[in-house]
Amino acid sequence: MLDRRVLLALPLALVACKRGASAEPAVAPARSLKALAPFPVGVCAKSPQFEDPAWVDLVTAQFSQLTPEWEMKMEYILGDGPGRFRFDGPDAIAAFARHHGLRLHGHTLIWYAQGEQAFAGLDRARFTTAFDRYIATVAGRYRGQVVSWDVVNEPVTDEGSELRDCHWSRMLGADGYMIRAFHKARAADPDAVLFLNDYNLENTPRKGATFLKLVERLMKTGAPIGGIGTQSHLDIRIPAGQIRAFFRDAASLGLPIHVSELDASLRSEDRVDLRSPGQRIEQQTARVGELAEAFMALPERQRFAFSVWGARDTDSWLRQGERDNGQDQPLLFDGAGRPGPAYAAVAAAFA
Ligand code: G3I
Repeated sequence: MLDRRVLLALPLALVACKRGASAEPAVAPARSLKALAPFPVGVCAKSPQFEDPAWVDLVTAQFSQLTPEWEMKMEYILGDGPGRFRFDGPDAIAAFARHHGLRLHGHTLIWYAQGEQAFAGLDRARFTTAFDRYIATVAGRYRGQVVSWDVVNEPVTDEGSELRDCHWSRMLGADGYMIRAFHKARAADPDAVLFLNDYNLENTPRKGATFLKLVERLMKTGAPIGGIGTQSHLDIRIPAGQIRAFFRDAASLGLPIHVSELDASLRSEDRVDLRSPGQRIEQQTARVGELAEAFMALPERQRFAFSVWGARDTDSWLRQGERDNGQDQPLLFDGAGRPGPAYAAVAAAFA
């Protein structure tokens, strides 16, 4: 007796296989991701995409939650200079979400990668006032429009043993800036679920362990952390079981978990990469399937949302600029919006 999930995945897999074989019009998946999943399925968005009918059709058919890809970040909001707030982009995304009945996840208030210039030259008192004002202004503006925030993004080093040293930590303390950010976000929006978000938590077990210890330590201080965001930019060459192990450890904290930025590049930075296209797809479907199954295995109250970092392969940040080799297929749908092998792996796990 074939497992129900295999039966469901078969037509999807056939569609996926055909995707590479010919340009025949793809058969739309039997049921959309958001219909299959008993939790929100998210995707990142930037406002120019709203002018692309194919993007709008695919996203409104398949997804139930949006994350602004960059327009709700400091680089955009303070893009006109210190002390001046620019909200046209994030307001447009919030309006699109509201119009289409999509949940909105706020991303991100405080990130080591942004804000250094805007906060440069301020003494401690002015820096702290500007830090508090930024969070109060932005989180306050979207109160009642977002269900959640990535309050702090990417606090742990790539090596995975320590916290990043950045302009926020140097002025407010290694844990201090995060504790302050969570309290100020809570004050600005009493209802939003407040996340700590990072990447490579599955790819680099040491980093995942450091991140979870950080969450526990911050929570013990009384910081109102309401959820864990694991970005899941997967390295598809990691051993089987590593993703499941991280989710088992993450689940033990009892918090809602957001797979916040899934993509699974077929490429690697290695100078020599002898994997055949078939081996890459095999690795991708295995790891994406393991992630989706690990998420499904969480208690219902811990399944916050499962979000991908782009709708179509060609929307991916991995297909922009020098990263692009024109062949990467990191997402669930190809450039024409046809479901790919990763879609079949996710749909089978959700079913
Ligand atoms: O579209 C504007 C263009 O009009 C303008 O001329 C140009 C000037 O710099 O900027 C363009 O916007 C760029 C935007 O992406 C849209 O393409 C921004 O410069 C660029 O900084 C922005 O990059 C984003 C990056 O985060 C930094 O914010 C990527 O799209 C986005 O995919 C990436 O996402 C991050 C997550 O937030 C955190 N986790 C890792 C992930 C991937 O790096």
